[in-house]
Amino acid sequence: MTEISTGPGTGAGEHAPAKLGYSPVADIPHRPRVADTDPKAARRAERQVSSMFMLSMLFVVLFIIAFVAIDKSANVYLPVFGVVGAMNITLGFTMGAAIFLIGAGAIQWAKKLMPDVEVVQERHDLSSPAEATGEAAANYERGKEESGFARFKIIRRTLIGAMVLFPIPLIVMLRDLWISPPGSPSPSELLTTTLWKDGTRVVTDPTYLPIRPEDIPVGGLVSAAPADLEEVQIAEGNLNARAKAAIILVRMDPADIVSQQGDGWDYQGIVAYSKICTHVGCPIALYEQRTHHLLCPCHQSTFDLADSGNVVFGPAARRMPQLPIGVDVEGFIVAKAPFAEPVGPSFWERG
Ligand code: FES
Repeated sequence: MTEISTGPGTGAGEHAPAKLGYSPVADIPHRPRVADTDPKAARRAERQVSSMFMLSMLFVVLFIIAFVAIDKSANVYLPVFGVVGAMNITLGFTMGAAIFLIGAGAIQWAKKLMPDVEVVQERHDLSSPAEATGEAAANYERGKEESGFARFKIIRRTLIGAMVLFPIPLIVMLRDLWISPPGSPSPSELLTTTLWKDGTRVVTDPTYLPIRPEDIPVGGLVSAAPADLEEVQIAEGNLNARAKAAIILVRMDPADIVSQQGDGWDYQGIVAYSKICTHVGCPIALYEQRTHHLLCPCHQSTFDLADSGNVVFGPAARRMPQLPIGVDVEGFIVAKAPFAEPVGPSFWERG
């Protein structure tokens, strides 16, 4: 048997099949590709493939520029998708294009320039020896007999019924991913509505003790909750209210505060922020008092509590929501207003 054809230029295909244990196919007429016979077409294909790889490099550079240059809080409106984070969409597009172009270039390379040979690979007989299949069948029959699967009809039918119904709850639960009951609030509304309102006393979590400003030293951090949390939790019978209302109080030198989410939202250098990470919702209390950075242990998002809770590192796309605080007539720390932004993870931004 003789080999039919090879790709342009390389000559590698002439020996590859033999090396790999393949036999060329002699009885299939070989149709050479344009690039096999026309050197100009081969050069064109080469340029096409290398352009794709170069474009891929360009998109990687654009990805890095976008990561550095685009404001993480900027949004854009896109038809079909609605309002989405400008950085998310740009990073996704540039990275997707870079990967796509590498794949497309590799496919073009293989189709147009790599050796083009029709071959057959000889294989051993794929079916098992007759003794092995006979033994497997006998084992199956013996198992069937011993389990009584054929004899106990009612057990067999109910088992099949149970197995058929078993996956249905998993499918039903998927409904929550895209269907909300009509008239129900959007996720961002739900996450903005917490127990905090003007005058709600701030208490320690989980001991529910009211807090005075002098209880928190400079550099100190206190995990806190609204005073009515326990009551609401018992009435609702779940932890939803706690998950949204958890905050931390941090005290720093007022001179260190670079910016806040609202004028005078601190009290003598004590600032209150949501405790729930805006990435995917881990509770955070790792605070570095020298830099005023709050570090999420889950994926290392880092927020600067001296600068409006802005993200300084990591995958979180939104700053940490701040709660305005003051003191009541008895000198205990209270909230001065509800949260102005949704707390917790930012999946709803993609809706
Ligand atoms: S949950 Fe905080 S960084 Fe991912």
